[in-house]
Amino acid sequence: MIKEIKNNHLYWDGCDTVELAKNYGTPLYVISQTAIENECRALQKQFIKKYDNVHVAYASKAFNHLAMLKIIEKEGLGIDVVSGGELYTAICAEFPADRIEFNGNNKSDEELEQAIDYEVGRIIVDGSQELDHIIAICRKKEKKANVLFRITPEVDVKTHQFISTGQKDSKFGLPLDKELLLPILQQAIKSPEINFYGIHFHIGSQLFDNSTHLKAAEVALQLVLMIKETFDYEIKELNYGGGFGVRYTQEDKRQSYAYFLDPLMKLTEDFCYKNDLKRPTIAIEPGRSIVAEAGISLHTIGNIKTLPHIRKYAAIDGGMTDNIRPGLYQASYTGMLANKASQRPEETVTISGKACESTDILIEDIEVPTITSGDIFATFTTGAYGYAMANNYNKLAIPAVVLVNKGHAETIVKRQTYAQIIQNERIPDSLK
Ligand code: LLP
Repeated sequence: MIKEIKNNHLYWDGCDTVELAKNYGTPLYVISQTAIENECRALQKQFIKKYDNVHVAYASKAFNHLAMLKIIEKEGLGIDVVSGGELYTAICAEFPADRIEFNGNNKSDEELEQAIDYEVGRIIVDGSQELDHIIAICRKKEKKANVLFRITPEVDVKTHQFISTGQKDSKFGLPLDKELLLPILQQAIKSPEINFYGIHFHIGSQLFDNSTHLKAAEVALQLVLMIKETFDYEIKELNYGGGFGVRYTQEDKRQSYAYFLDPLMKLTEDFCYKNDLKRPTIAIEPGRSIVAEAGISLHTIGNIKTLPHIRKYAAIDGGMTDNIRPGLYQASYTGMLANKASQRPEETVTISGKACESTDILIEDIEVPTITSGDIFATFTTGAYGYAMANNYNKLAIPAVVLVNKGHAETIVKRQTYAQIIQNERIPDSLK
C-alpha cells in the first residue's frame, strides 16, 4: 500500500508526510519509488512479457529526472525525450542510447547532432525539412540514424483540447496526404544515411476509452500496407504513443494497460495476418500513467478567509508554479489534510494558490476537517507534469522533490534558492 493512514497522519510509501513536510519544508513533491516500480512491472506483465517483439519507452517529459531515469532503466524500459535538455539528462544518467527515442516537432540541428552523436535508438521525424537535416548530419558524421515518421491519424479524442494531438490540424506529425507523404517516404527508404524503421502516432493524453487508439492504429496499419504496396518495403516498427489515463478524482475510471493493449495487439496481428505482412515491433510511450499516481504534493495552509455567503478560501504556500494543470487545463484534483487524516470532514473550502493570478485555484470546494493555518495539505496524483512543468512565476522557488521508498526518504531535487532564481540575471553597465 502506497497510501496509508496512521496516527491521524497520511503516510506515503511508508513515510509520514507530516514529518516529511517538517523535515524538508513545503511546498514539497513526494514521489514513491515503489509505485513507479509497480507501474513498470504492470507494463512488463501485461505487455512486454505477454507479447513478442514489443517495447515501452517512458515519455520522460512527465517527470524527467536523473533518479527517475535510473529507476526506468533498472525496470528494463526505454525512454522518450523531446529536447536537448531531456536528452542531456538522459546522457548524464548514462541511460543506454539504444533505448532512447527522440521526439519533438522542432528539433534544432544542435539537438539532432547531440542525438546522432549519442547514437540514440530512434528519431521520430516530424516533417520533410527535419528528414533533410538528419540525412545531412548523418552524412557529415558518417553515422546512420533509425527513423520513424510521426503521423496525425485524424481521429478525435475525448480529452481536453489542449492535450489532444491526433486531429488533422495539429502542429505535430504529418497529415495523411498522399502527395505530401509519398515523396518523404520514398526519400526515407532510399537514403543510405538512415534506416527507415516505421510509423509513429500519439493521439492525446489522459484517455480512458481504447477506441481512439484502435481507430488510429487502423489508420497507421493502412499506411503500412500502402508503403508495402507502393514501395515493396515492410516497416519494422509501429509506435502507438502514450495517453493512458490516470485517477485524479473519483470520476476518473482508470483502465489497465491490458484494456488498451490487448485489443490493439489483436487488431495489429489480425491486420498483418490478413494482409500478409510481418507484424512489426509494437512500441508504446506512456508517460503520465507511470508516474502520476506515484506523486503527491505537500503544502502548508497559510491565509484562511471566509467570504460571507460565498466561500471559504484556504491558501497554500505554492500553487500554479508547482502545479499549473488546474490553471492551464481546468484539471481537477483531490487532496486531504495530511495532519488530520482520520478526522471527519467538517467544512467545505477552496484551496487557492499564492500566485497573482485568478486561475490559481488548486481545488474548488473540497470537504476537509476544520482547517487551520499550519495544516499540511496533500494533493494526490501530482507525479506527472507537476515538477516537470514547475515555473518561477512571481519568483516563487521550484520546490524540493523527495523520493520515498518503503519508509526511506531521500532528496532528489534540492529546493531552489532565491539566489538561484536570479543567477542568470544581469544589470547592464548603463544602469549601474
Ligand atoms: N508520446 C508523445 C509523442 C507525447 O507527445 C506524449 C505527451 C506522450 C507520449 C505521453 O503521453 P502521456 O502518456 O503522458 O499521456 N502537460 C500535459 C500533457 C502533455 C502531454 C504531451 N505529450 C498535462 O499535464 O496533462
